[in-house]
Amino acid sequence: MVLDTQTLPYLNPEKDRRTVLITAGTSGVGFFTVLQLHLHGYVVYLAGRSKNRATKAIERLRCELAAIVEGYSLEQRAKRCLGELHYLEMDLARLSSVLETVAAYQQLEENLNILINNAGVLVLPFTVTEDGFELQLQTSYIAPFLLTIKLLPMLERTSYYHPEAGPARVIYVSSVIHRMVVSQFNLSTSLNYYPNFIFTWYRFAVAKTAGIHFMKMLALRNPRILCVSVLPGNVMNTDHFSYLTRLPIIGFIFWCIFQICSYCFGITSQEGANPVANCCMSTSITTTKDNGSHFLSSNVKNPSIIANNMDYAAQTWIWTIHQLGKRKIDIS
Ligand SMILES: NC(=O)c1ccc[n+]([C@@H]2O[C@H](COP(=O)([O-])OP(=O)(O)OC[C@H]3O[C@@H](n4cnc5c(N)ncnc54)[C@H](OP(=O)(O)O)[C@@H]3O)[C@@H](O)[C@H]2O)c1
Repeated sequence: MVLDTQTLPYLNPEKDRRTVLITAGTSGVGFFTVLQLHLHGYVVYLAGRSKNRATKAIERLRCELAAIVEGYSLEQRAKRCLGELHYLEMDLARLSSVLETVAAYQQLEENLNILINNAGVLVLPFTVTEDGFELQLQTSYIAPFLLTIKLLPMLERTSYYHPEAGPARVIYVSSVIHRMVVSQFNLSTSLNYYPNFIFTWYRFAVAKTAGIHFMKMLALRNPRILCVSVLPGNVMNTDHFSYLTRLPIIGFIFWCIFQICSYCFGITSQEGANPVANCCMSTSITTTKDNGSHFLSSNVKNPSIIANNMDYAAQTWIWTIHQLGKRKIDIS
């Protein structure tokens, strides 16, 4: 089902300033999520590792926005206000950078209405970050965990002092690949096995499963904040698969497979962003009914059995707290 984002509420940021922090809004699904939020009057902070890419993305966003607004009727022009776009530097592969970004954001804004953990890297060679975590696990799970926990007091405060804006929201962009994980995993295992181009998918799947666990635990512990995970769908035309398609010889085979998948059941980045935008803005998604849920398009759908298991989710949570503690990162 194609989601119609025009049915989502439009805000006037001068009267109702609602802020969003999104990781990686410069390309793919993130880019079009930012476009939708901006069109609906949100103040959006794009947190990414390259100022240059962000500047270009903001320029491109402004062009796309101008073209969309051009097509508005007079009535739509009168009623719909654009939001704001800002950039914050953040490299999820360095936890110190996450902490710096949190501090920078807190200097700039008093409130945070929506946090979107969108960034992720897919199927890379086995790499360990300077923080001692596998790169995909850190980018898709550990760093989003730290970012969210550090911004939690702000999200709580926003929900408390601005009830008219509805609950603050944490959105985690997941992937259907999490279903590759069919038994509980040990996050301390490196999963550095040969051949990499197979096991790298599994490392990614583990990271995305941990991300879903995180949303479930966060929802349980913070019932006044709306925490959900969402699947964008099969967006084959993003940079997400570029490591595989650039491999010598086998890369061409991957490229052919992705082209066929894209032709048969692929969607555009724009379509992939709509479910994310819907989780951010829909007033029919509520804490009482939907907290901890997993969304596909606008529907709640069960994630894998492993991702849905609350005992495993608790183990993932405890492991992460323990690991951050070992690195002397205060998350109290
Ligand atoms: N494409 C799909 O079919 C699909 C399906 C399901 C879920 N998803 C999920 O959707 C999300 C967005 O993916 P996409 O398809 O839109 O691909 P994408 O265009 O490659 O987006 C990934 C983003 O993550 C950012 N990123 C990577 N490492 C980072 C780091 N260390 N610090 C900060 N940002 C970093 C990248 O920023 P740079 O510009 O700096 O590289 C890029 O903007 C991902 O979480 C992905 O797993 C995608």
